[in-house]
This record gives sequence, structure tokens and C-alpha cells, in this order.
Amino acid sequence: MNLDPPASALAYQSGFGNEFSSEALPGALPIGQNSPQKVPYGLYAELLSGTAFTMARSESRRTWMYRIKPSANHPAFIKLERQLAGGVLGAATPNRLRWNPLPVPEEPTDFIDGLVAMVANSSPEKPAGISIYNYRANTSMQRVFFDADGELLLVPEHGRLRIATELGCLDLEPLEIAVIPRGMKFRVELLDPSARGYVAENHGAPLRLPDLGPIGSNGLANPRDFLAPVACYEDGQQSTRLVQKFLGELWGCELDHSPLNVVAWHGNNVPYKYDLRRFNTLGTVSFDHPDPSIFTVLTSPTSVPGLANLDFVIFPPRWMVAENTFRPPWFHRNLMNEYMGLIQGSYDAKAEGFLPGGASLHSCMSAHGPDAETCTKAIAADLQPSKIDNTMAFMFETSQVLRPSRFALECPQLQTSYDACWASLPATFNPNRR
Ligand SMILES: [Fe+2]
Repeated sequence: MNLDPPASALAYQSGFGNEFSSEALPGALPIGQNSPQKVPYGLYAELLSGTAFTMARSESRRTWMYRIKPSANHPAFIKLERQLAGGVLGAATPNRLRWNPLPVPEEPTDFIDGLVAMVANSSPEKPAGISIYNYRANTSMQRVFFDADGELLLVPEHGRLRIATELGCLDLEPLEIAVIPRGMKFRVELLDPSARGYVAENHGAPLRLPDLGPIGSNGLANPRDFLAPVACYEDGQQSTRLVQKFLGELWGCELDHSPLNVVAWHGNNVPYKYDLRRFNTLGTVSFDHPDPSIFTVLTSPTSVPGLANLDFVIFPPRWMVAENTFRPPWFHRNLMNEYMGLIQGSYDAKAEGFLPGGASLHSCMSAHGPDAETCTKAIAADLQPSKIDNTMAFMFETSQVLRPSRFALECPQLQTSYDACWASLPATFNPNRR
């Protein structure tokens, strides 16, 4: 296995949704047609479609690959004995849930073995909904994986990763995210002794940049800060295990070659990464807060305008200048369902209990907001411009109720006293004092 790609393979192409192209050998990319009779260097042409053929041009995702062997060159897949942890859903609950970080296992665990399903709101055969996982790993994958059930959004919290994909390599560190298209083959290698983070599996429309409306043509995540890889291929003839997730189950087969064997490619169905520190954070400069949708990095829409299948929202470092304003996130009840995680520091709505690597779930119409300590301080604060620093929380927000896995409901990391953080909110109402 090629675990040490050439330096030239760690370059990137900038943009979002572009018609990217790359070739690892000069002249490998056919010019003027997609599938010539004879592809340069004796390569095979293969199309990976991320959307239906007849999707509107603005929504269409597809990539042409020129590879040493076509993906069809594989024996039958056999269902693996070891399936994903947490794959069985538990009972739905309207209760607010919060988890401490899951520890990295002691035994050798790669990215796939370390995936734990936490919540989901769809069965994988439906073209909508999301599933959310935590990952923990202490060893690089010695196999290659693809997910037939959805696009993967990776949010590292600890440890750097190298994601070797069919289209090239993405090096990723905490405070960066990566998106791997549905069906794209990849291998996750560890660049540190261990790694941990979050994964949203998007069964619906591919993630895209949100429209900006009255914000205008700049702001939030800017397209040029998204980075796609350059072509990098493995020409080994060694046996390689290929694993896929299909309708929620893992299946595997043995190849006599590396499936990361794409020498040239062009298209817009690509893996990409984005540095959250480049997010152009917008907010109020007078009073009150905009809705947290102002912090949306990427969105997967539904067929209902404005209703997201998945919004990826961050709460980055930012200045707080609002006058005469309750500055933490307000108390609220939401149509949408919110799964939150923390990448670093602390989150401004919670004094304690929400830790990097941990998570919380606030489902449709569950009442939540700042804890009692944060609320009391915010009401009494002498408001000056102040900066929230050393923080990066995020939210996977979705329109359908998320059902916790049985693992998520039974693991010792589930906090049993989360409700208590709001229990000591005092009644300060006095009808005689305005
Ligand atoms: Fe919320």
C-alpha cells in the first residue's frame, strides 16, 4: 500500500462545485471527449454519478475517472461478520440528551471499526435523512472503503488524518472538515497516534453552499476556500480488501489491485476539504441575534424550499457587540432537530458538561438554551464589546427527528443529569417591578 504519496500529490485545487480536472501523468486526461476508443496509457474510462443523470444541470454531480482497472473488476462481496457499532436504533425519545466523549479503544481500531452510530432519522434505502456517527481510531486503515448509503461529512476533533481517495489525497486536521461523495473509495490513514471526531452520513441531496440572500455575494464560507485533491494513483498489484456499506451493512471482497488507481479525472463530484477558520462569520452590529442559520457552512436541501435535510452550522470565535442584548443563544424550541458537537474550547451557552468530543441532542420542540449559570451571568453582565475565543462548536441540524442508537442510549458516556443544568433557573418575575 502506498502510505507515502509524493509531495506533488498533496496539492489542492480551489473552488466549490467546479468542473475540476487533474492528471498524474502528462496527457492522461482525454481532451474533447469523455470515453475515447483508446484512452491514453491504456487506461479505462469510468463515470461516477453522484446524482441522477437527468438532474438539473446546476444540481448535477458526476466525475469521469481514467483508471488502471475499472471498478467492475471485483469478485462478489460477502457480508462481514463485524458490522458497525451502534447499528441498531433504540427507542425514540423527546428528552434532551448529552454524551461525554467516547474514549479511543485500546485494541487496534481503524476508522471503520471505530465508527459508532449515535443517531439517525432515515433508513439507508431512502434518498433523504442523515445518520450521525462518532469515530475513534488508533491505526491506519489497511483496506479501502466506500459508502453506497450516502455522502460523508467528517469533522475531526482530535488527531490529523490523511484521506487517500480515488481522486487524490486530503490531509485533514481538527478545525478542518472533509466531504467524501457517496460511493467514492477511500482509505483513512492516521498522521497522529490516535484520532477522534464526528461523521454525518447524508442520504439526501449532496451538500452545497447555502444561498446568501440579502447578505450578498460574499460571506460565510467562500467558494475559493474549498479544496479538492489532485490525481494520485497506486499501481500496486497487491491484494487489497475493499469494504462497502450498503443499506446499513458492511460487505467486503478481495481485489488483486489497489482500487485507488485513478491516473486522471475530471468532474464536479469530488471529495473536498474546508478550513473552518476561514469562515467569514457574520452577526449583529446593533442588537439581538440573527438566527443561527447565519452560521451555515454547508446545506443539503429537501424538496421544500428553506427546509434542510442537513445543515452543517458552526459557532466559531467571534466578537460580541450587541447592545442591551441577552448575548448567549436564547432559550428556544425548534422545529428542527439539533445534534451538536464541540471541536475545541467551550461553547458559550454552557458553563460545563459539554466537552470536546462530546455531543448533545435536542429534538424537535425540546426546550433548551443556556444553562442556569450562563443565563444568570449574561443578565448581570456589564455589556462591552468582547470576543468569544478558543471555541469551535458545530451542529448537524435536520428536519426529521433523530432516533438514538441503542448504543447511544446505553453507553456509560450518556449523562444522566443533563436536565439539571436548567433546574436552578430562578423565578425572577415581580409584577410590581418593571
Ligand atoms: Fe438549539
